[in-house]
Amino acid sequence: MLLTLDSLREELLKWDGCALSKQANAVLGEGNPHATVFFVGEAPGQKEDELRRPFVGAAGQLLNTLLERINLKREDVYISNVVKYRPPGNRDPEPIEKEQCMPWLMLELALIKPKVVVPLGRHALGHFLPTISITNAHGRAFKLTDDITIFPIYHPAAALHNGNLRGGLEADFLGLGEHLKSRGLFPAAA
Ligand code: URA
Repeated sequence: MLLTLDSLREELLKWDGCALSKQANAVLGEGNPHATVFFVGEAPGQKEDELRRPFVGAAGQLLNTLLERINLKREDVYISNVVKYRPPGNRDPEPIEKEQCMPWLMLELALIKPKVVVPLGRHALGHFLPTISITNAHGRAFKLTDDITIFPIYHPAAALHNGNLRGGLEADFLGLGEHLKSRGLFPAAA
């Protein structure tokens, strides 16, 4: 079977390899299948679970606003999560839940082939750069391979809960915009 984002979504709907799948809806990533920038969040929240789409609640609104500030639209980028189901009460995902869901993220990355991966917050960062904290890594570019750069930024939800992080998050986005410009990746390919 030829793997596409649509077939991946169909397969995910049939999957029961994570205990969370018994109590929550599956939420795959969405966006431009040719995106050069791939955002990775933590796990769906309540609104995401209801609508079965990533980043459509308050954190998603903030993400949209910050994207616009660097002249990107949601349709330009791809947005996904490490964990594909909402953890009960929005608790932190367990390590086993991240591990069980990880193949879906890997398949999304393999299909999209982004040049810049943007982990939002510590859960996503932990997968790509496990030895550095989000406090030290945010707003900096880390070359993973010749083709792929990891550009971690604070999670928008963290900035909504802690106003002190808002300025850092905004600066991270401006830094991301500059990074894309410096690599001739700005605006994203259609
Ligand atoms: N927070 C996340 O990490 N992911 C979402 O999809 C929404 C909020």
